[in-house]
Amino acid sequence: MPDSTPSIPQLNIGLFGLGTAGTGLVEVLPQSGLQNVAVKRICVKNPTKPRPVNREKITFEPSEILDDPHINVVVETINGVDEAFHIVQTALRRGKHVVTANKKMVAHRFSELLDLQAETGKTLLYESAACGAIPIVRTLEEHFGAEPLDGLSGIFNGTSNYILTRMLRENLDFDTALAQAQANGFAELDPSSDIDGDDAKYKLILLTAHSYGHIAHPEAVFNLGIRHIRSEDLNYAREQQKTIKLLPICRPLPEHRLALYVLPAFVEQQDVLYGVQEEFNGVKVQARYSGQQFFKGRGAGGHPTGSALLADLAALQQGYRYPYRKHRLNGLSRLDESLLLDVYCSFPTHADVARFPLRQAEKVWQNSRAFALKGQITLQDLQSAQVWIRENEVMVVSEAK
Ligand SMILES: NC(=O)c1ccc[n+]([C@@H]2O[C@H](COP(=O)([O-])OP(=O)(O)OC[C@H]3O[C@@H](n4cnc5c(N)ncnc54)[C@H](OP(=O)(O)O)[C@@H]3O)[C@@H](O)[C@H]2O)c1
Repeated sequence: MPDSTPSIPQLNIGLFGLGTAGTGLVEVLPQSGLQNVAVKRICVKNPTKPRPVNREKITFEPSEILDDPHINVVVETINGVDEAFHIVQTALRRGKHVVTANKKMVAHRFSELLDLQAETGKTLLYESAACGAIPIVRTLEEHFGAEPLDGLSGIFNGTSNYILTRMLRENLDFDTALAQAQANGFAELDPSSDIDGDDAKYKLILLTAHSYGHIAHPEAVFNLGIRHIRSEDLNYAREQQKTIKLLPICRPLPEHRLALYVLPAFVEQQDVLYGVQEEFNGVKVQARYSGQQFFKGRGAGGHPTGSALLADLAALQQGYRYPYRKHRLNGLSRLDESLLLDVYCSFPTHADVARFPLRQAEKVWQNSRAFALKGQITLQDLQSAQVWIRENEVMVVSEAK
């Protein structure tokens, strides 16, 4: 497949979704320098909602976009996997290019999306899906397309970062900090995907594909979030002059193996990620020759997401497509769960820790409600103990190296 397509003089867009992301695009587009781009039709679901656009553009019927031969680009900004994948698949097969913000859909259907691009010769871009406005997908693909990377991590989820920042700064408990995040529009009514690390995992999968070439399925990647964080855990972090952040990690191991996981971690003050506060995101790339590179910015919100969608449309207009350089080079890399992690874990008093495969366990603190141990555990053992960890409200924090 060639690394680019001919430039596209006129982009006629069919937009799916007019929530935070879709409205963001509609608002930034007229102010942008992008020429010859028009949103022709917008498909949404709920017929009774008021809309910030001319009603004539609105449709509830996907075929009015997918069957329209004049629409040559679909921008997909809906939630969920199956409906979104169906829209994207149909659009590509009908000869339309696609820009999507939907990390969950891309992470779950990545291999099929690669095949569809090869089969149709059409382009799929998703800069806004990984860390919103931070221009990281194309940076990894293009700028670091040749240089080997020795590590990738960061703060990929603004909701959990906002909660952790508030807990640490204002001594709030988790429920109060979450309620504040919801009141300020930084958390959904159902915040599970953000606080349990799923959202960060989807972004990690996207960025791993472009930095190491490996396409991982979400079920193969361990994630644990901050749902069970205790005030004592943050007090312990403070005593060590550290903080706790939810970190997605991609660590290359010898022989084309990769350790991929999402886990809270202690972060030292000298670490660039320590200064990523509130709802901000940060991406830390450890490049073999150029050293550490760090990107910080807004990971969500209408205009930041609209900005990344706009950047994809500009790239598309110039005939850009992802060459998937690292995937072509390292497509044979595989995940390895044998990595032994140094961890700190806190448990409620009633937890039967004999059932938890922590090696060389040492007590850190204990009170009437809870206690904490330090020790070592493999990713594989964490994965196997996942249900027990969740049922027993265990907080696991990795000692960052
Ligand atoms: N919010 C962000 O800051 C952000 C940042 C980066 C990426 N994203 C991604 O962007 C996507 C949308 O997020 P959002 O926050 O904008 O969601 P949202 O505010 O809930 O909006 C979702 C929109 O999709 C529409 N919709 C849902 N199912 C549909 C269907 N089957 N056909 C047509 N329209 C449908 C909804 O229609 P109604 O209006 O009729 O309900 C709504 O307009 C997600 O995949 C998300 O991960 C969001």
